[in-house]
Amino acid sequence: GEAKHPRSGGFSFESPFGTHDQAQLQRGYKVYREVCSVCHSMDLLSFRTLGERGGPFYDSHAASPAENRFVRAIAAEAQIADIDTETGEPIMRPGIAADRFPSPWPNRTAGAAANGGAYPPDLSVMTKARAGGADYIYSLLSGYVDPPAGLRVGVGQYYNPYMAGDMTPFWDGDPDKVPYGGFIAMPPVLSDGQVTFDDGTVASVDQMAKDVAAFISWASDPRATERKQTGMGVLAFLAIFAGLTYASYRKIWKNVA
Ligand code: HEM
Repeated sequence: GEAKHPRSGGFSFESPFGTHDQAQLQRGYKVYREVCSVCHSMDLLSFRTLGERGGPFYDSHAASPAENRFVRAIAAEAQIADIDTETGEPIMRPGIAADRFPSPWPNRTAGAAANGGAYPPDLSVMTKARAGGADYIYSLLSGYVDPPAGLRVGVGQYYNPYMAGDMTPFWDGDPDKVPYGGFIAMPPVLSDGQVTFDDGTVASVDQMAKDVAAFISWASDPRATERKQTGMGVLAFLAIFAGLTYASYRKIWKNVA
């Protein structure tokens, strides 16, 4: 038994100089916010990061990511657990740009208990944590199919051909035709039209899966764009420098027989 090879999401950022598509990142953030964040944390991400160069809500008119109006509005929608500095009592307060994304669960035990014993893993670096990266997340989310007849699926388990696993022990059919994939405790969470995209893009399961995979990929490495742009500058510099070096070499050796 093995998992099906992920389908390509055709992502702009997968090429060496490719960068993220900002409209896609905004759509992906919306899917995370409205669907995934009910169960999955993204502990490493702060609201401010959303407004950094290359991020979903980067705005060249904002003086800084913390002063970006989209970032401030998104942060203010969140409720953050804190301590009242005067009374020392635990309180909930609206978020600010510097806050991290809040977790949907008070602790892992509560998160696992609500999901049949499987804790929904943190998605901050999920595209680095699984082989296949963004293509894998895209394929997994859009790849649920009915289990083939002859496959015994346990209570609270769902069949997905892209999930790692070995179906041999659960397969009553032809032993040479063991289905691809594995069982996962996450139900198929996306259905057509589940979110309303602000840019008018039709929210098919395929589209939402792609966009949220792009968002998670960006989040796992928010500096990637900057690095690629620096890399391009370095290459341009080296090209010019190589030209100059060659021209001066020719000049210096011109009259040497
Ligand atoms: C696991 C993504 C929504 C519950 C996972 C995994 C990913 C993922 C990448 C890891 C799969 C693996 O181990 O390879 C997402 C995304 C979501 C989403 C992008 C939004 C579009 C949800 C929701 C729930 C949920 C709404 C709860 C109803 C879980 C659980 C697991 C899981 C319980 C652990 C499954 C297991 O280990 O068997 N999710 N998820 N997810 N997710 Fe989600």
